[in-house]
Amino acid sequence: MNSRIAVTIIVIAAFVALGVTLLAQNRPYDQVMKEVAPTYANLKKNLDSSAFAVAAADAAKLEGLFKETETFWTPFKTKDALDFAKSVQLAARNVSAAAKEMNGQKAQAAYNAIGKSCKGCHDSHRETMPDKSFKIKP
Ligand code: HEC
Repeated sequence: MNSRIAVTIIVIAAFVALGVTLLAQNRPYDQVMKEVAPTYANLKKNLDSSAFAVAAADAAKLEGLFKETETFWTPFKTKDALDFAKSVQLAARNVSAAAKEMNGQKAQAAYNAIGKSCKGCHDSHRETMPDKSFKIKP
């Protein structure tokens, strides 16, 4: 095999791999959401038991996960999804700040704002498949 053919084959293989990666984007995304769910649940639990330091850490983690979510949606330019992802980051920052002030009431109020964005985005961008798994609807 001459080397030019070998290079061509390598380039084609790289493009195929890239295509497969792009198509499989569902996978990393649902991994983010699977990490979101327990973090969100722990945050509530820790706020309820006034474990403010841990709650602040949960909120910071949630903020990071939704930064990732925002990055995922950026190429789709899906405005409401991007807004939901940004709202969660803002609300998570508010929870974290209130938790650091040990202001349970303020932290709970900010926490409740997060739930609205979860639901809002799921209502318009999450499709439930017949097998009960989920699909992204950009
Ligand atoms: C920007 C939009 C958006 C926001 C905001 C959002 N989600 Fe999601 N979520 C999705 C989409 C789209 C899916 C379906 C994708 C998938 O599961 O592959 C999903 C799936 C999920 C799943 C199922 C994961 C699985 O595949 O088993 C859980 C659990 C979840 N989200 C929890 C949350 C929680 C909790 C919040 C709020 C703290 C939240 N999500 C906020 C878009 C969002």
